[in-house]
Amino acid sequence: SKSEIGLLGLGTMGAALALNIADNGFDIAVYNRTARVTQDFKATAGDLAPRITATETLEDFVASLKSPRAIILMVPAGEAVDQQIAALRPLLDDNDLIIDAGNANFHDTNRRAEAAGDKPFLGIGVSGGEEGARFGPSIMGGGNKASWDRVAHILTAISAKHDGTPCATWMGEQGAGHFVKAVHNGIEYADMQMIAEVYGILRDGMGLDNAAIAAVFDRWNTGPLASYLIEISARVAEAKDTDTGRPLLDIITDAAGQKGTGRWTAIEAQHLGAPVPAIEAAVAARNLSAARDLRQTGEDIFGGAPQALNGALTVDQLEQALIAGKIICYAQGFTMISGASEQFGWNLPLPEIAKVWRAGCIIRSVMLDDMATALSEDPDKNLMFASTFAGNLKATHGALRAVVAQAALHGLAVPALSSGLAYFDTMRTHRGTANMLQGQRDYFGRHGFERLDREGKGFHGPWAN
Ligand code: 6PG
Repeated sequence: SKSEIGLLGLGTMGAALALNIADNGFDIAVYNRTARVTQDFKATAGDLAPRITATETLEDFVASLKSPRAIILMVPAGEAVDQQIAALRPLLDDNDLIIDAGNANFHDTNRRAEAAGDKPFLGIGVSGGEEGARFGPSIMGGGNKASWDRVAHILTAISAKHDGTPCATWMGEQGAGHFVKAVHNGIEYADMQMIAEVYGILRDGMGLDNAAIAAVFDRWNTGPLASYLIEISARVAEAKDTDTGRPLLDIITDAAGQKGTGRWTAIEAQHLGAPVPAIEAAVAARNLSAARDLRQTGEDIFGGAPQALNGALTVDQLEQALIAGKIICYAQGFTMISGASEQFGWNLPLPEIAKVWRAGCIIRSVMLDDMATALSEDPDKNLMFASTFAGNLKATHGALRAVVAQAALHGLAVPALSSGLAYFDTMRTHRGTANMLQGQRDYFGRHGFERLDREGKGFHGPWAN
């Protein structure tokens, strides 16, 4: 009999997703360009093998699917997606659905949806790494709603559940799902970076060893910071290298990789005029981390950093600072989503986005539950101003300030935390400093300014030029 759904691309994520689909009782046909991979996949599928049809040509793959067909693409983002769509379309009927479940740039998804015309196409963001894909990812859907409804029963079945609620939601037309996934990844970058900055203070400022650092993260994971990223940071901190027995963190090179999703978020935020400075700082920190030789040169010339804090900060202050930093970075991410929603006419459901991130994805955390509640009450309010988080920030921004200040005094670089603090202070200062910028612009270019004491635009200063 024919399969209910097909999956093309049996890399790590594709294979895990296919097993998840089969595990949830759906018959699935799979195809991979290298036939060997397909055979091995089926051979190792164990009990799930009877639900899996392994095919070796695209024609057989398509022929093994129930009509109207639904095909998930799990190939590397970029050109491979366009190539697979081009190869598949001639073999498909007009109402067959293609679903790109990779980490596509949402502009590409917009373009592909446009090019598909009336032929059904979805772009879905899937978060949670290999384990999430296998046992329940968070799924952010985008594209035609009727197409989403055709496969929603499968996507909700395989998704993570938060207190029984599936973490799979349709976000809007075209690239809306991949856009939300990009912001997820931007927040992921900032959250990870802030944790790494605090790790640096614990290590270099306080002299804690890896086991002690793991214990700190484990303790935080029972409080307001409880989250997947804090939990895995503890596991990373305590891990030993299997070859040498040395603490793993001590031998991992301090140069971060990136596939680009965080960078897209920072760039897009600038286009939208809805900046996400903590995320930008996190992207920049990854780029700077890669410049190890240059940093060695800097250390040779200037030295002197980082210095021990000698009791200038407590571990509790670090926890508070991280709570404040986290609220601020999520506030930026959600503000950016609002901005996009308006400018792209997407009507993105902010509370639903917070809900879909509560389980399965990399940024899942207890705080997201409160964020979902706050956004349900008022989706348009900056999260920092929602009563729960305003209360949290009032209680914690002093610690964030102390951490940023002491870090600065001791040469400990904390770019995301300090950027977060600057955002917070900017957002609580009504009389800013851009009057000076406007004066400068008018001085050198007669750009004109507005006045506080009169209506109208295009006022000029008494410059002689
Ligand atoms: C997820 C992750 C996942 C992934 C990306 C980003 O939500 O499951 O975000 O999509 O880790 O590839 O990783 P980079 O750090 O390589 O950009």
